[in-house]
Amino acid sequence: MSEVLSPTVKKPFYSVVDEIVYDEATILKRVGELARRIERDYRGRDLMVVGILKGAFVFTCDLIRNLATPVSLDFISVSRYHPRRDQGRVRLLKDLQEEITGRHVLLVEDIIDTGLTAHSLLGLLGRRKPASIRICTLLDRRDLRLVEVPIRYVGFQASGAFLIGYGLDYQDRYRNLPFIASMDLDAARLRVSQSGEPERENLLVYRAG
Ligand code: IMP
Ligand code: MG
Repeated sequence: MSEVLSPTVKKPFYSVVDEIVYDEATILKRVGELARRIERDYRGRDLMVVGILKGAFVFTCDLIRNLATPVSLDFISVSRYHPRRDQGRVRLLKDLQEEITGRHVLLVEDIIDTGLTAHSLLGLLGRRKPASIRICTLLDRRDLRLVEVPIRYVGFQASGAFLIGYGLDYQDRYRNLPFIASMDLDAARLRVSQSGEPERENLLVYRAG
């Protein structure tokens, strides 16, 4: 019989986890609080939640499960052309399936960093004439903001550390961690450069115990 890893493992079992910044219970409590506010604000309105793939998929799932009002759901996927450069262009990888004209759109993001992704999505979706469009982000890292975006709902403020888990990735890994953790990027890179192995594989080393 194959061994199944507990989805609720609490301690950092990946070698790249530096420390747990927000544990599962803290995240879910905060998500519940945000959902209560959203419920109140959108009472009687046709709310459409739009999750930004891939990072926001976990947060979006928990958020809508906490909403006690009817809600429709869609996803959009974009990628930045130059993640490390201050250029605002994004590439549309997957468009919405639903029309948003005349509807109240809540754009859900995992983390807003430079603001370029959210800014360009507001532009793109705004041109389709929704009744309203607001942003809900789990994490807000203000230090690196290059373009101001209006954020209506914020889960937590984030500092400089690179974060993984609860949807957030490093090279498309670690989204499945049930908590949000800071990642030791330097240690990860150092180990990669010393081993000569491809980075993706190397990062999957487990911490013993
Ligand atoms: P922005 O366009 O700079 O605001 O980028 C936001 C996007 O960058 C998010 O949707 C994330 O996918 C990614 N991102 C920014 N910071 C982090 C992080 O600390 N960990 C993982 N992904 C991040
Ligand atoms: Mg992402």
